[in-house]
Amino acid sequence: CGIVGYLGKQKAFPILLEGLKRLEYRGYDSSGISLLDEELHTFKKKGKVSELEKFEDALNSEAQLGIGHTRWATHGKPDDLNAHPHHSGNNRLALVHNGIIENYSTLKEYLVSQGHEFKSETDTEVLVHLIEEIQETQNLDLETAIRFALKKVVGAFAIAVIDKEQPDIIVGARKSSPLVVGVGEDEFFIASDATPIIKYTNKIIYLDDDEIVTIQRGKEVQIKSLENEMVDYTIEKVDLKLEEIEKSGYDHFMLKEIFQQDESIYEAMRGRINAAEGWVTVGGMQDHYNRIANAERFIIVACGTSWHAGMIAEYIFEELARIPVEVEYASEFRYRNPIIGPKDVVIALSQSGETADTLSALELAKEKGALIYGIVNNVGSSIARFTDCGSYIHAGPEIGVASTKAFTSQLVVLTLMALDLAHKRGTITKSHFQKLISEFELIPQKVKSVLSQAENIKSIASEIKSASNALYLGRGYNFPIALEGALKLKEISYIHAEGYPAAEMKHGPIALIDMYMPVIVIATNKNAYEKIFSNVQEVKARKGIVIAIVSEGDTEIKKIADFTIEIPHTEDVFSPLLSSIPLQLLAYYIAVMRGCNVDQPRNLAKSVTVE
Ligand code: G6P
Repeated sequence: CGIVGYLGKQKAFPILLEGLKRLEYRGYDSSGISLLDEELHTFKKKGKVSELEKFEDALNSEAQLGIGHTRWATHGKPDDLNAHPHHSGNNRLALVHNGIIENYSTLKEYLVSQGHEFKSETDTEVLVHLIEEIQETQNLDLETAIRFALKKVVGAFAIAVIDKEQPDIIVGARKSSPLVVGVGEDEFFIASDATPIIKYTNKIIYLDDDEIVTIQRGKEVQIKSLENEMVDYTIEKVDLKLEEIEKSGYDHFMLKEIFQQDESIYEAMRGRINAAEGWVTVGGMQDHYNRIANAERFIIVACGTSWHAGMIAEYIFEELARIPVEVEYASEFRYRNPIIGPKDVVIALSQSGETADTLSALELAKEKGALIYGIVNNVGSSIARFTDCGSYIHAGPEIGVASTKAFTSQLVVLTLMALDLAHKRGTITKSHFQKLISEFELIPQKVKSVLSQAENIKSIASEIKSASNALYLGRGYNFPIALEGALKLKEISYIHAEGYPAAEMKHGPIALIDMYMPVIVIATNKNAYEKIFSNVQEVKARKGIVIAIVSEGDTEIKKIADFTIEIPHTEDVFSPLLSSIPLQLLAYYIAVMRGCNVDQPRNLAKSVTVE
């Protein structure tokens, strides 16, 4: 979900509306805005944020204070009633919430016994009633009532609350869900991230867990702990430009982000590699270099697409740096009592830096004494701040819900780490190292050449767009790319797709193959070319439709595949950086041709801040 709040001298509604549109990637099943002048007015609606533009009264409102929310449903279906903001029973308070109140049923039972009536099925409404109950029975100001209420709450939250009786303030609080404050000239903002704010100010305060912030007209921002102690804070300058969060002429953010990859990959490498001088240095590792280089094990935790990057990293680290690696879904890791200790390095991969499961896995790993390394895109995010050390991937804002450029940039940073460690640990020869880094520097150029095949990929998309199922096959470094290709297709076109290690096809999925089944084979490996060739023959023998991604100049597979996409030659270890891109484009064009909402696929959210 996304939260935004405004307090200043301008009309609040247009600012909140625009802010919600920028946050829509965080959730988009319903949205709402509350405005406060002498009265409290709330407008909310199922569907996209643009639905709010239909409220004439909101458009005409002169109110200069308000809060808004775009929702990704957890408790209660997406409809007008369950949309935020939620009011207290006395209609004095309005509240927006991102996260989950785990003990909401106990709280609700108590509140019902006190005479509270609920209109929605949400956990959020319970929270605003709880604040009301405390405020009314103890006659407290808003900030104190919230502080008392939050002590009774178990769960994760970022909230913003307004109070008709205190029409000059917004109170916000966070625990495990992100919240930032923007400090402008005579105006303040509060939001889930900086994107709705940077048009107005680049001065940002990042809230920490268990902090309560009060912004008040004409006063300085005040932050307190749940124990009512004042908290010192710093105002940071964010370096985010407006054009980075706009579509810049592309039909979709996803397409823009796919096409940015020659640059984003270069940005991930910049300053970390120099083939002419023969070095690779990942700055984030330096402070703890010995501990990392002598780790008994790397454990990579992540979710979704980031987990796929982790799978590839396992191959890369073990091949080059000879360090044993485990890759885990963050959600599984934290609930299975893992064996972990001070000689382990836990690497978190996260584009957003806010994924709740990943953050919780890190908390567990830190407790057990492991060193925590973060590979994150979103600067200043919760994971970035929680880790002991780490590297930003510098991909720039990724707004399309299906991750593309963040994935390739994660791979770049992981590869650089492996190269740095391999070189210094002596697990590869000097000449091999030199050969690899000279090739690595050519990758951005080669990515450009893959992107120039977009038209070919588009025409292949039109041939298979009506399929109901698809199979993706790859070996070695390209097995996780098969998983990722299938995930991209599922996410945005709603075609059922599975990724498999090519050799495993014979152990099950081959039963599915018939003339309607597109099989996308990633066949660029130098190592296992013959084996992959046989897999392609096996698919063809069962009349499957083969779309093969091959290296330039391929002749064998090209002869028997129905469609081929040629990508430049590179070292096997770098091939995922090239082979993932045609699969992103294929999923994109198929989804567009099927009329799907590519940037905001149904039921998904960009950052999953609930477990
Ligand atoms: C969500 C997104 C995916 C993303 C995953 C992990 O499911 O829709 O695109 O890969 O979360 O997110 P993270 O920000 O931790 O990489």
